[in-house]
Amino acid sequence: MNSCYKKDEWLIIEEDFHPELNRESESIFSIGNGYMGQRANFEEYYSGDFHRGSYIAGVYYPDKTRVGWWKNGYPEYFAKVLNAPNWIGIDIVVNGIQLDLAKVKIHSFRRILNMKEGFLERKFRIDISGGRTLSVSSKRFLSMAEPDLGIIRYSLKPENFKASIQFTVYLDADVRNEDTNYGKKFWKEVNHEIVDGKGILTARTMKTDFHVALGMRYLLVKNNTPENFITEIIDKPKYIANIFSAEAHEREELVLYKYVSVQSSLNHDKKDLTSVVNQRLDFAVNSGYDKLLKDHKNEWGKIWSGSDVIIDGDISAQQAIRFNIFQLNQTYTGKDERLNIGPKGFTGEKYGGSTYWDTEAFVLPFFLKTASREVARNLLIYRYKHLEKSIENAAKLGFKNGAALYPMVTMNGEECHNEWEITFEEIHRNGAIAFAIFNYIRHTGDTEYMNDFGLEVLIGISRFWSQRATYSQDKGKYVILGVTGPNEYENNVNNNWYTNTIAVWTLSYALENLELMKKEYPGKFKDLIGKTKLDFTNESNRWKELIKNMHFPYDKETNVFLQQDGFLDKEIAPASTIPPLERPINQHWSWDRILRSCYIKQADVLHGLYVFEDRFDTETLKRNFDFYEPITVHESSLSACIHSILASRIGNINKAYELYLRTARLDLDDYNNEVDDGLHITSMAGSWLAIVEGFGGMRVLNGKLHLNPLIPEQWKSYSFNARFRGILFEVKITPKEVLVRNLSEKSLQLAVCKKAYELNGYKKLSIKNQVIKKISQ
Ligand code: BGC
Repeated sequence: MNSCYKKDEWLIIEEDFHPELNRESESIFSIGNGYMGQRANFEEYYSGDFHRGSYIAGVYYPDKTRVGWWKNGYPEYFAKVLNAPNWIGIDIVVNGIQLDLAKVKIHSFRRILNMKEGFLERKFRIDISGGRTLSVSSKRFLSMAEPDLGIIRYSLKPENFKASIQFTVYLDADVRNEDTNYGKKFWKEVNHEIVDGKGILTARTMKTDFHVALGMRYLLVKNNTPENFITEIIDKPKYIANIFSAEAHEREELVLYKYVSVQSSLNHDKKDLTSVVNQRLDFAVNSGYDKLLKDHKNEWGKIWSGSDVIIDGDISAQQAIRFNIFQLNQTYTGKDERLNIGPKGFTGEKYGGSTYWDTEAFVLPFFLKTASREVARNLLIYRYKHLEKSIENAAKLGFKNGAALYPMVTMNGEECHNEWEITFEEIHRNGAIAFAIFNYIRHTGDTEYMNDFGLEVLIGISRFWSQRATYSQDKGKYVILGVTGPNEYENNVNNNWYTNTIAVWTLSYALENLELMKKEYPGKFKDLIGKTKLDFTNESNRWKELIKNMHFPYDKETNVFLQQDGFLDKEIAPASTIPPLERPINQHWSWDRILRSCYIKQADVLHGLYVFEDRFDTETLKRNFDFYEPITVHESSLSACIHSILASRIGNINKAYELYLRTARLDLDDYNNEVDDGLHITSMAGSWLAIVEGFGGMRVLNGKLHLNPLIPEQWKSYSFNARFRGILFEVKITPKEVLVRNLSEKSLQLAVCKKAYELNGYKKLSIKNQVIKKISQ
């Protein structure tokens, strides 16, 4: 476990340089603004081990699939968000010696991520040579207010000597992805311009032909006065630089400001990119560093006012939850419906930055409760726009008549995952996409969405379920065969309870809304029928038949829902009996042994109970939780959070807290030893949900907001800000009181521990102790 980060409420601090953990720290200290992201690589040259990573949302490469044995239906490529041209580069040579942290003696080193204000800072003092001490500090941010701008303040101060400092300020498109399948570089240069003090480099991606133009300007300041210098120009393919030198006397500080604008053909005509970059750089330089930083901080202030969680009495938990909220907001800002959320955000290459069911099942519920409705709506529109491709995807697998199978992994709507058990079998993702529509509408009240977009998607997905289910003579029931549920430690199973449940739910939800539309908006209904060619009578009869007669595996003796048919044929023994040296099993056991075992990678039946919790009584939830939790190994980062929420729901607060800790500090403490690959953005949403839905008991049921709060005994109090139907409110929970404050003008109707209240604009409500005790028993 990594323990090199200091605990602080708002900061992540790395004291001393740990070269062996550099890749981990580069992930942890990543910055982003939804439009682009940057791992915490050093600006200056570094000859040690690091993983360079700059990413631009939506700019990807379809890397040709590499599999051992090709199967019909496999996608041609695996999409990769590209490692984009390097914008941060500033190489430094002091009195002829290259500044390279791998080579010099380091007196002190601090890397700080300021989550409140959204910037990365690094300060270090080194012996550059023979006792000459140099202090360096760099601060950089990707502006939340002006998302195309990246800004760096890089300062050097010789402490006990006179220095001649040479700066090489550069942009570099000669970059590569570490995860390339065939060792290719994915960028070609389009053109470049470089003169004294400014340069623009345009590169394009192979195959996808995204054009990206990066421009830089800079300013060197000594004693608050801009320095003049003579510049040498370096002008190589895919690389442009200015080299210049300046002198600094003992204790004199030289500060370099580097302004970069990044524009892509996603947002502008290719031919306009250079002029847009120039305009944006004029704007950046005229605004100046201080103003840009101020506006950036201001945006972060707004984000925090909608989503902060304050935990009193547990600094470790406090730091962790803010880290999670911070990274989620760095990854997605909801301004562009073409973008989505990769499981690693902008912090690494793993999972290719592509879209998974993670978005709908985990991240959407976070944004639904913390951001304006447009943010979540854009996530839904993203899938709406991919409907046609998902119909094509289903057709490739043999489905017809407008059946839609959304991809398990995608960048542009096409499937790009190529493990058969996931690509072809993990069809539950279709259910999550349908459920997201329901979840969006119940949180926002935006019922128009259903008629305008939602129903088309629901029809496509329902048609898929309707064709995917088959009739079993033996059971006298409909069955869904050959699937993989959320628990990927089982493949090709029949009747995964969660999949069958969400399939049937989709059919009912689609029917209910079609009937409603038919009755209330006959004109729209007619248009929809025309567009989708729905044979309402026949298709809906089939759906009704499936709803009535679906098979759900259940064990009468234990009274639990079975993950799949035959689950109890397995030898059931708690995961605690697995020798610790054999954990995680995915690193120690053969795949075959894992598949035969009863061990569960991530919530499966329990994921279903989480989604459809309001249909089940506490006893049922508890029985299933007690059966499945002991055999769950939580080897996916998406597991512990769901278990934690359910543990809170059944009143097992200690278990809920134990599981919460596992999710919240997963990356900061590097539980799974894989932070070097990037952060677990999806599970970060899960940790937030474990507080707000878990401990806070926040639910939206029948159009009403509910809170059923608990508090872990380790905490003196906690509070969270959240939104419901456009109303921002704060909930503070202590062992003796629930305090709800309406932070908006509109009045808020809610139920706390099942008792209804109305809270007028800006008013607060205090509910004293007996209620909390009653709930937590
Ligand atoms: C999980 C999937 C998830 C994927 C990306 C896998 O380990 O099992 O449910 O979609 O990671 O986060």
